[in-house]
Amino acid sequence: MLTKQDLIEQLHLEKHPEGGYYKETYRSKVTLKKESLPSEFGSVRSVSTCIYFMLTSDEFSAFHKVNQDEIWHFYLGSRILLHMISPDGEYSKIKIGTDFSNGEIPQFVVPAQYWFAAEVIQPESFALVGCTVAPGFDFEDFELAKRKELQQKFPKHQALISRLTR
Ligand code: GUN
Repeated sequence: MLTKQDLIEQLHLEKHPEGGYYKETYRSKVTLKKESLPSEFGSVRSVSTCIYFMLTSDEFSAFHKVNQDEIWHFYLGSRILLHMISPDGEYSKIKIGTDFSNGEIPQFVVPAQYWFAAEVIQPESFALVGCTVAPGFDFEDFELAKRKELQQKFPKHQALISRLTR
């Protein structure tokens, strides 16, 4: 049986600031100049990047947002519950996994600028997914939520934000 430690070692995963572990597996050598990107991108970007991302049941991926749509691909482990708050404050959730007859899906796109957080619901377990973005990832495009600020912006989701921020 694969353990969380096996995955960290065999896939060379490192801690991610949002929670969980990751390793960048692809960064296109093709780049896009700032002039050809929407204004929210401050400088040149790779056209696309991809990571492994592992989340365990003893922590969560805290609310954050990026400037790109982010495509999640399920690889193995237990299902992930993904929580989203749209820029208008609309809440939605989705289960990423392989129990298709119960509404889980193996691939999901989180729209750019949505605040999102993720957790593994099953105790003592973990999930391995892939996350692809285009244009490619840059920490300049990444914002980790500040609890108070996000609660002030979306007061009706105060409890959820409190639980899924640090
Ligand atoms: N590279 C480093 N962090 C991330 C992330 O959160 N998402 C994606 N897609 N790539 C990353």
